Amino acid sequence: MRRRIPLFNTEAERDGLRQASRFNAELLDFLRPQVVAGTTTQEIDRLAYSYTLDHGHTPACLGYPGPVVPYPKSICTSINDVVCHGVPDDRPLESGDIINVDLTTIVDGWFGDQSETFLIGEVSDEARKVVQVAFDCLYLGIQAIGPGGHVDEIGRAIYDHARGQGMDVVREYQGHGIGRKFHQEPGIPHLPSRTPNRTAIPPGTCFTIEPMINTGTWHTVMDESDGWTVRTRDGGLSAQWEHTLLMTEEGVEILTRTENGPREGHRF
Ligand code: MF3
Ligand code: CO
Ligand code: CO
Repeated sequence: MRRRIPLFNTEAERDGLRQASRFNAELLDFLRPQVVAGTTTQEIDRLAYSYTLDHGHTPACLGYPGPVVPYPKSICTSINDVVCHGVPDDRPLESGDIINVDLTTIVDGWFGDQSETFLIGEVSDEARKVVQVAFDCLYLGIQAIGPGGHVDEIGRAIYDHARGQGMDVVREYQGHGIGRKFHQEPGIPHLPSRTPNRTAIPPGTCFTIEPMINTGTWHTVMDESDGWTVRTRDGGLSAQWEHTLLMTEEGVEILTRTENGPREGHRF
């Protein structure tokens, strides 16, 4: 059965979406200079929490229901072999690490969601490559669709690029519709499905693309001790990039972006 995709076609709704994503992108701008060797992930989390509250908004991850326990922090910080949902702690970042910082904010009831992977100091060639491939996969996924496109076109573009670079695409976690809820229809897999998924993405659809790319195989394991941290099963590196996107009559609008941060075509 095909589930209903919420559509945002009034200017008021689109402005709500744009403002939430805009704030989220400004929060990432604020945090970016702090994501350096020596900073702990709980310090980055604390800065995100206070900046968000100081502006009158709400961190969406804090207390978000999970399979075992609610999420205990405001942001996700996923280092090296952590694929996603890494929980901030007292470990300082070290030269050679790659770390994904994933932020989601609620502004006036609307959600904005994005993530960026940072290279700390001098990193290995393999680490630099997986960050580059994940970044390029995000933009290839964005370019793959226009108004009236369908979700399989996104996964096809991402999967073909990653496999062509000798890397693999995580299957258990996918992009998602977003709006007045954190996660809603449509699901956005980062690889094409076996049975073609022709779910259309008409104007008014708001969704994320957030490919997780592994240097080894796609399999993941969840940490039983905290109920959240997801790692690669083989211990290989994983990188991720995410934007919130609005399909308009003209094409895809990237909502979680400011003038700062790496742009399409960036070389790491
Ligand atoms: N921000 C993540 C996403 O991209 C979800 C994190 S859920 C949390 O969908 F509870 F771990 F925060
Ligand atoms: Co997301
Ligand atoms: Co996210």
